[in-house]
Order: sequence, then C-alpha cells, then structure tokens
Amino acid sequence: MKYDLIVIGGGPAGYLASERAAHARLSTLCIEKSNIGGVCLNEGCIPTKTLLYSAKLFDGAMHSEKYGVTAQGVSIDHTKVLARKNKVVKLLTSGIRSSLKSLGVTVATGEAVLVGHSDDAIRVRVDETEYEANDVLIATGSSAVVPPIDGLSGAIESGFACTNREILSLSEVPKRLVVIGGGVIGLEMASYFNSIGSEVTVVEMLDHIAGENDRELSAILQKNYERKGIRFLLNAKAQRVGDGEVLCSLGTEMLHIECDKVLLSIGRHANTAGIGLESVGVATERGAIITDSHMRTNVPHIYAAGDVNGKSMLAHTAYREAEVAVNNILGVSDEMHYDAVPAVIYTNPELASIGITEAMAESSGKPYRVVKLPMRYSGRYLAENEGGDGLFKLIVDAETQRVIGAHALCNYASEFIVSVAVMMEADMTLEQIKKVIFPHPTVCEIIREAIFQCDEQ
Ligand code: NAI
Repeated sequence: MKYDLIVIGGGPAGYLASERAAHARLSTLCIEKSNIGGVCLNEGCIPTKTLLYSAKLFDGAMHSEKYGVTAQGVSIDHTKVLARKNKVVKLLTSGIRSSLKSLGVTVATGEAVLVGHSDDAIRVRVDETEYEANDVLIATGSSAVVPPIDGLSGAIESGFACTNREILSLSEVPKRLVVIGGGVIGLEMASYFNSIGSEVTVVEMLDHIAGENDRELSAILQKNYERKGIRFLLNAKAQRVGDGEVLCSLGTEMLHIECDKVLLSIGRHANTAGIGLESVGVATERGAIITDSHMRTNVPHIYAAGDVNGKSMLAHTAYREAEVAVNNILGVSDEMHYDAVPAVIYTNPELASIGITEAMAESSGKPYRVVKLPMRYSGRYLAENEGGDGLFKLIVDAETQRVIGAHALCNYASEFIVSVAVMMEADMTLEQIKKVIFPHPTVCEIIREAIFQCDEQ
C-alpha cells in the first residue's frame, strides 16, 4: 500500500506530524511499536507533572502556617496519586488516538524498519507487511542511557535500579532513594520523592546540578532542596550499583550509600538502532540522525524530527520540528530555529530558561548586559512566596538591543518564559518590549522591570 507520508513513531513529533499532514490532506500512515503519545505522554512530561502537582499541594498544606492557615491531618497517598496519573495519561492518549482517527490517519502497531528506496518511493516494513511512501518522517525518540556501571544492568533487571519509565509506577515509596544524575529527570523525581517522604540522595558527577542552566540559579535551587532534606553529592560518580547500595567515588574517597531504590537519570540517546537506516543510507552522528534546518536528512524525502535527531530533547522542540518537516514536505518553506527554545525543570520552585546564559555571553566575547533581580521585586511573588529567594536574570545584546537570554527561578516561570520566546522569535527591540502591557500583579512583571533596568546600567 502506498501513502503520501509514513511517520515512524507516535510520540510528540510523530503524532503531531501525522495530524498536520492529514489536515493538509496527505494520506498518512503513523507506525508506533508501543503506545501513542510516546515518552512524553506515557512516561515523561505528563505523568511527572501529575505527580509533582500532588506533591506541591501536599507541600503547600504542610507549610501553610506561614500564610496563616492551619491544616491538620494532612497526608499524601502515593497509590491514589498514581491512579490519578494513570487516568490523566489515558485521557490524553485516547484523545490523540481519536484525533488521529478523525483526521483519517492510519495507525499501525508494530516495529517499522526502513528497507530501501527507489526513485519514487521509500519502503518500510512492519512485520510481514510492506508499505511505500513518497516521504518518510523518522520520529523514533530516545531512550535512557544505561552506562557500563558495575552491577547496573543486573540491578535494573532485579528492579533495584530503574529508569524514568519504572519510577513512575513504583507501587511502594522507597524509604531511601539514590538518584544518579542531577539533571532534569533526576531533579524532578528527587523533588517528588522528597515531598512524599523518601530520604533522597542525588549523585552528580559535575560540580553543579541542573546541567547547562545558569549556575547562580541552580545553586539557589540546590539550597532550597537541601533545606527540604535532599542530600547532594557533587563531583561524585557512581561506580557500582547493587547489594542494597550505590558505591560512588568522591575525589579519592569511596562512599557506600545504602538505599532501597536507585533511579538512573544520566541522559538519553537517540533511538536509531534497528530501524534500517543503513538500508537507505541515512547518516548519523554520535548515534543521532543528522538533520538540516528543514529537518531533512541526507537522503531525499526522508526527514527526522524530535529526540531522534539529538538536537534538543524536548517535546516542544519536537512539535515545532514536526511542523517544519511537514511544511517542507508540502512545499511550504519553513525553517527550524533553536535560539529561542524554552526549557523548564518543574521543581518547586521551577527553573525556566531560554537562550544563552551569562557564562555563555561572557565567553562569546560580544558586548552584553545582564540584569539580575530578586523575584521579590514582583509584588505577587512576595505575596505568595513567604521567605522565597527566587531570582531572575535577563541577558541583552548590548549592540542590537535584543534579549538573548532569560532565566527564572520561581513558580509560574514555566508559564511565562514563553513571553520571552515571543520577544526573541519576533526579534523585538527593548524599546518595543517596553510598550507591552503586563497584567498587574503578576510574577512575570519581573521581565518588564528587568527590561527597564537595562537602561540604568
Ligand atoms: P540530563 O542530561 O538532563 O542530566 C543528566 C545528568 O547526569 C547530568 O547532570 C550529568 O552530568 C549527570 N551524569 C552523567 N553520568 C553520570 C554518572 N555516571 N554519575 C553521576 N552523574 C552523571 O538527563 P536526564 O535528566 O536523564 O534527562 C534526559 C532528557 O530528557 C533531557 O534531554 C531532558 O531535556 C529531557 N527531559 C525534559 C524534561 C523537561 O523538559 N521538564 C523532563 C524530563 C526529561
């Protein structure tokens, strides 16, 4: 059977591309080997946010005294939290299934393998069935990296260690949890399990948590969580996992950390193995598919979007890349920009960022200005965050008078960072931004304040 477009993978890049293509009247086949919605909906973005919201409510109730509210007998029931998480996931994935159906997308279940191409078609096989298409979009996503740490694969098999997938379905709350990797997944999960009562230790090999984020903000976030009881071991590397402990090196010292469960969150790699890339000649670099700004691979009519191209492993980047790919398939010129991709760690407080950091600006050698404001400048932040030590940083190109980076450590940051994305994508000058009216009182007024303070530097 021949289609206009075959999409391999039904995660954010795959399902969105299928929807957009079908909407533009391309006959579209979407092939998914597991669950429609991919990691994002089934074992990533959405389930974690469901858990973290319950934890936030619980934390709020537990610490309500400082707001004049006395709550008694407050507890959190992990089983009920999980049940609600499953309900939310089911609702969203069934919504996507029905949207694909109503748009006329054919959904096939199975593992797709590229088997070859001719002048006018690319061939894809699923089990015994072969399909053809004018264009193919590869959107097979990514998987957790499992490094060759002594004992780790056995520990994963036995259930002592787990990845982002299994941690979201743990029926029992571990008394002691060791998180290997203090990046996005590690911090979000450390936050949840800390809130619901686990003793959490984060083992991070760098001298800071939260990866590429602004160091000053990451350090404040770390202090917030240390106050809540999380132990951070920085410059520490896991060396062995098993027998109820994680052995990690800390300089010349070796530490035995006894625990009941280990979460491995040290990064993800593109899913490119076993999908037949060699048979059609699609080029990869460090395991990820090489794409240009139109999401084209080196092979005509084969595109790749989402985590599989390793550019920015975020669902919202995947959505946009999928749109760019479909537009180019339709002959509509469209290009991907990566300068204004927001990123959020949904801890409490949230850490949201976009563009470059102060350190990157400094090393670029170009003239720049930084405005650093305590979040207390925002009346609403002050009203809602007793004792809060959130911080906002704005980085501006001193020559072009454009915003080139923003970093916020505060609640609602995930919701308002998009306003900076709009400023950057629309290439607005500081003078143009000054004319934008921000609702008052809001936490995002901090951006307006920072824009005006740029002049005073
Ligand atoms: P990550 O790259 O964010 O963090 C991994 C951390 O592990 C790094 O800090 C690294 O230095 C550390 N590490 C590596 N090897 C280590 C070792 N042997 N011992 C100790 N530490 C070690 O990766 P993570 O958290 O697994 O997330 C994967 C991807 O999923 C990211 O690209 C992220 O963007 C995406 N994601 C995004 C979310 C969001 O947008 N809120 C939520 C969850 C995941």
